Formats: sequence, structure tokens, C-alpha cells
Amino acid sequence: MESVVKIDDDLPLDRACLVGCAVSTGWGSAVNSAAVQPGDTVIVMGLGGIGVSAVQGAAHAGAADIIAVDPVPFKREMAPVFGATRTAASIEEAAELARETTNGQGADSAIVTVGVLRPEHPGQALAAVRKAGTVVVTAIAPHDAPGAPVLLPDLTLSQKRLQGSLFGATNGNWDVRRLLNLYRTGQLKLDEMVTRTYKLDEITLGYEDLNAGRNIRGVVLHD
Ligand SMILES: NC(=O)c1ccc[n+]([C@@H]2O[C@H](COP(=O)([O-])OP(=O)(O)OC[C@H]3O[C@@H](n4cnc5c(N)ncnc54)[C@H](O)[C@@H]3O)[C@@H](O)[C@H]2O)c1
Repeated sequence: MESVVKIDDDLPLDRACLVGCAVSTGWGSAVNSAAVQPGDTVIVMGLGGIGVSAVQGAAHAGAADIIAVDPVPFKREMAPVFGATRTAASIEEAAELARETTNGQGADSAIVTVGVLRPEHPGQALAAVRKAGTVVVTAIAPHDAPGAPVLLPDLTLSQKRLQGSLFGATNGNWDVRRLLNLYRTGQLKLDEMVTRTYKLDEITLGYEDLNAGRNIRGVVLHD
């Protein structure tokens, strides 16, 4: 079947499972959708499993400065483990940090990986990037969400790019294998992403921890 990727026997399935969605999506959001270049300044907004994977992708692509944003202190404490160089509690604070080190220009790209996409998030991210900078919207809004207000003159006159990203524009046929090879060689951090595991009958606790921001990722083990 086209949609099945065999996992090599030496790889632990309770880590490889992360590559099925969060890691591919976040990593690809940086590497493919934002097309991060060596030396770039990148903002990642929202540090769940997708966001820390975007941080890792930006680091692999050679970003010089990765500003990781989350209102939850635990997420900011964990961010450097995945390659973040600086952290901020809000996108506005991150934008200011980016401007301070880019002669006022702003980040090369901003990747939006918040838990629930709100109408204001794309515009906030667009305000944080430089002229001709890219905003990648990976987070998903509720189906009945209204449109997003965007500063239209700035979009046109600053030639900014607003790019959606589905599964990080990856191709499961080869990217899953590629990412697992990076894990195997110690270059992709999956162990550090799993804050804790749950048995199936602890799933409610898993959701409570998710909502409270206690986990980068929780993994449910089927015994
Ligand atoms: N595009 C795709 O293909 C794809 C695939 C899977 C998931 N997703 C989406 O990606 C998003 C992230 O998923 P996840 O599992 O990592 O979520 P998560 O809930 O584990 O993490 C989201 C993080 O965003 C933070 N956050 C919330 N509001 C914020 C704000 N205003 N600024 C900065 N940080 C903020 C939260 O504190 C949390 O740490 C979700 O919207 C999910 O639906 C997209």
C-alpha cells in the first residue's frame, strides 16, 4: 500500500510514531514550506510537538537564530534542547527580538504552530517578518473560523509571502525514512519530545496534560 511505511526493526515504535505526523509536519514546515536558509532568523510560534519539530527543521536547515515563542514557561525551558537560540512569551516580544538583531528588518520567516489558529495569528506573524519574508501557517483553525485580518498595504508593498502548509509539504514515502535516519544518527531529537507515556486507560489524563501544557508530546502505549 502507498500509505504504509515499514519501520526498521531497530527503531522503537514509541518514538517512530512521532514521525507519522508531528515531526514530519513541523520539520517540513521549516525545511520545505519556509525554505529556511543557512544564517536565517526564524520565529516559531507555539511549541507543541509540531513547533519543536519546526525548531529542529530550522536548525537542520542552518538557521542562525531561532526564536521560539510560547506563553507556557515549560515550553520555553525545553525549546533550547531542540535548537532554539532565544525564547519569547509572545509573538510581539519575538518580533522585537528579531528586529534588534536584523537592523530593524525582522525575521526571515515565521512559522505558526499554535494549538488553535485564531484570526489574529497570521497578521501577527506577518508583522514579525522582513520585507519579502515568509509566514508559514501550519496550525489549523476551527472549520467555522472567520477570515484573518492582514495588513494589506504591507503584504503587497513589502512583498511578504503567506504560505499554508499541510504535513510540512513532506512526502511520507521518503521523508519518514529520512527523518528516522536523522534520529538513528542522533541528529533528530525524538526521545526528548516525549514528556511522558500513558496507558490506554489513562487517556483522559493525557488530554488534561495536553490542555494544561504539561507535555511536549504524550505517547499512548497499547500493551
Ligand atoms: N498543517 C498540518 O498538516 C497539521 C498537521 C497536524 C497538526 N496541525 C496543527 O498544528 C497545530 C499545532 O499542533 P500541536 O499538536 O503541536 O499542538 P499543541 O497543543 O501540542 O501545542 C500548541 C502550543 O501552542 C502554544 N500557543 C497557544 N497560543 C499561542 C500563542 N498565541 N503564541 C504562541 N504559542 C501559543 C500552546 O501553549 C502550546 O504549547 C495545531 O493547530 C494542529 O491542529 C497541522
